[in-house]
Amino acid sequence: MTPEQVAASYDQIADRWLDLSTYGFAQLERAVAFVKHKGTALDVGCGTGRLMGLLSKHGFRTDGLDVSPAMLAHARNRFPEARLFHGNICRWRLPHAYDLIVAWDSVWHVPLSDQEAVLTKLCRGLAAGGVLVFSTGGTDGPDERQNSLTGPPMYHATLGVPKALRVLADAGCVCRHLEYDQYPEGHVYIIAQKREYDGPQTCGPVRLRAVHPGDLLRMFEMQLDPDSNRMAVTNPRTAEAFVAHWAKALSDPACTTRAVLGDEVFVGYICCFPIGGEDHVGYWIDKPYWGKGIASRALHLLLREVARRPLVASVATGNGASLRVLQKHGFVIERVHLAPATERYPECEEAVLVLRHPGPPDNDNGETITAGQ
Ligand SMILES: C[S@@+](CC[C@H](N)C(=O)[O-])C[C@H]1O[C@@H](n2cnc3c(N)ncnc32)[C@H](O)[C@@H]1O
Repeated sequence: MTPEQVAASYDQIADRWLDLSTYGFAQLERAVAFVKHKGTALDVGCGTGRLMGLLSKHGFRTDGLDVSPAMLAHARNRFPEARLFHGNICRWRLPHAYDLIVAWDSVWHVPLSDQEAVLTKLCRGLAAGGVLVFSTGGTDGPDERQNSLTGPPMYHATLGVPKALRVLADAGCVCRHLEYDQYPEGHVYIIAQKREYDGPQTCGPVRLRAVHPGDLLRMFEMQLDPDSNRMAVTNPRTAEAFVAHWAKALSDPACTTRAVLGDEVFVGYICCFPIGGEDHVGYWIDKPYWGKGIASRALHLLLREVARRPLVASVATGNGASLRVLQKHGFVIERVHLAPATERYPECEEAVLVLRHPGPPDNDNGETITAGQ
């Protein structure tokens, strides 16, 4: 069954979900206990919003997503203030990274062929240290079933426990808890946690960490370098413009700003930031560190951390090193145009590259990434 057909089935039985069972609450409490920063949560397949009250009691600002309009209408009545999205998790784009993602008895309705991509998407949608809790079928291998036991036709699929654990690990998550909570029934729930980016998340000698206000002076000096500006075809920012730009970037939750460390030395910065409804990436590596593959590794790490796609990068066509770094990671040139001069940029021929696929190459080994700027 397709998600749309599953939605049509839930539309028929939505009223039954108004009974406020507390099943899953204890499991959710167990997951919440692992969350260090209780900021934002996403309830995937939120249904009538049964779990959302519990999440708000813990202080989460919770978004909900559901493919069934009737289920979602009940959730809207209950939580008029919540951001509730109508959509199919297979295609829905997460608006930002979340501290907690709950997918209780929901993603098991996703077609088997989409299960791995959806699980990977949820892991990539976690902030560093964020927690995912979801339920699935506890088989040893992939399985899918369709029946009409609850009335309208219903479909369930699972990757099976071994494969689900591999997908979680490949997407940078660690399993914290796995339980057959209805044993001998095959219902399993899993709690997984995204690794902290200030931890051992490295690519060769390169590591990313959050940009701190104490980095700004060094960053200001880096962006004054004439050769770097010639290469990137940029005008350096004045001190005033630089301070204003970074004050905004550091306070905007939609911006991911990371310091790039090479062998623990601060060598540059890499960011993802919204411009006109698109998510852009950009980086700046201090000139003495060019040609060592640092930008490539930093981009690899950023693409693991930032779930949003597509991502856009604008690069002067003369900046061959950056074009190579971006293309190596799956960015594709979608257009080339003459960008007019602005205060920040001299006029130049500019390539607009877009990354549309979900993740960076499954390659953690910095050695195999060729050098770029
Ligand atoms: C068994 S109910 C669980 C609802 C809620 N999580 C709870 O525990 O009360 C499953 C929910 O997942 C939603 N769902 C199923 N497939 C979905 C998909 N592909 N995308 C988003 N929601 C989906 C259904 O519409 C339904 O509301």
